[in-house]
Amino acid sequence: MILPNRQVPVAPGSSGIAINDSLPQASRLVFGCMGLGGGWNAQEISGQDISRAQAAVEAALEIGITLFDHADIYTLGKAEQCFGALFRQQPGLRERMLLQSKCGIRFADAQGPKRYDLSAAHIIGSVEASLRRLNTDYLDLLLLHRPDPLMQADEVAEAWSRLKSSGKARHLGVSNMHAGHMRSLSHALGGEPLVVNQLEMSLRKLDWLDSGTCFNDSQGLAVGTDWAGTLDHCQQHKVQIQAWGSLAKGWFSGALPVGAAPAERQTAALVQELADLHQVARESVVLAWLMKHPAGIQPVIGTSDPVRIRACAAAAKVHLSREAWYRLYVTARGGDLP
Ligand SMILES: NC(=O)c1ccc[n+]([C@@H]2O[C@H](COP(=O)([O-])OP(=O)(O)OC[C@H]3O[C@@H](n4cnc5c(N)ncnc54)[C@H](OP(=O)(O)O)[C@@H]3O)[C@@H](O)[C@H]2O)c1
Repeated sequence: MILPNRQVPVAPGSSGIAINDSLPQASRLVFGCMGLGGGWNAQEISGQDISRAQAAVEAALEIGITLFDHADIYTLGKAEQCFGALFRQQPGLRERMLLQSKCGIRFADAQGPKRYDLSAAHIIGSVEASLRRLNTDYLDLLLLHRPDPLMQADEVAEAWSRLKSSGKARHLGVSNMHAGHMRSLSHALGGEPLVVNQLEMSLRKLDWLDSGTCFNDSQGLAVGTDWAGTLDHCQQHKVQIQAWGSLAKGWFSGALPVGAAPAERQTAALVQELADLHQVARESVVLAWLMKHPAGIQPVIGTSDPVRIRACAAAAKVHLSREAWYRLYVTARGGDLP
């Protein structure tokens, strides 16, 4: 049973994250909807897909999550369709949550290969299609999914102005973009803030840390430089950083693949040790590690399993010591810092 109707509450424990200036109802954890809607195929959504989505949404709401992350492409639109079906079943549900979706990725079709498209026509068409699938009138947040090398910032600004003035989307953010992309967009947008940048960050994807800690050291040579300044830019301009892949695909909370490297096995063991120490589930430790970073990272959790969703509930309550945080970082990177 979906919980009773009520307006999106101001989320507990939500203070201290940048997004709260724009969306005070945003929870510290975000629910990632990529796993909903059945497979990435042309089959229609089934009753079972909708029931699975309902169970996941209930678990997420129960642990205080108010922000739900979609994209036009997830399961080829079916993740959004599942939410549309839930909103039809329980109209008050939409008002209890904040909805974020993304646009800009196009899969291979008769016109061309997989590509990115941040043209005004594609952005506007994509949002309108998301709204139809979601059975709602507006998105709380629209994210531009990936940088499109053919993007013209002024054209994006024009598209955004039309979407915002028509009430179809309320706030704009980006995903997988570095500080340079954000500066160029912000300039074109005039006074309109970019409120979010969603980036891949986790204990199994550490370049965002290594690029800073290994700067001016030979270890840093292997790390891309585009991260440099991106975290600082977001912090200075109050852009909320969201971490996708935040659960590290479950590698350190029970789903370590066969043949995992020694550093991965040791990280999983350390997560277990810290979970026992803090008397929480391993998922909460994995997320707490991200949340200790001063950027105020908002993890996007991609599990659709209600048990694993509830296992994330204690993440904000786990206070890792500086030493424990560094033990996790150094163990996961598989070698000492410079
Ligand atoms: N902006 C972007 O470019 C981008 C890219 C990818 C994803 N995202 C967003 O970020 C969200 C999270 O990303 P993600 O799904 O890549 O990463 P994630 O949260 O690290 O991993 C979630 C996946 O790991 C599985 N998993 C987690 N713990 C497990 C365990 N103990 N045992 C077995 N399986 C386990 C989940 O399966 P179960 O459902 O069975 O638990 C799910 O398939 C997505 O839902 C989406 O909203 C954004």
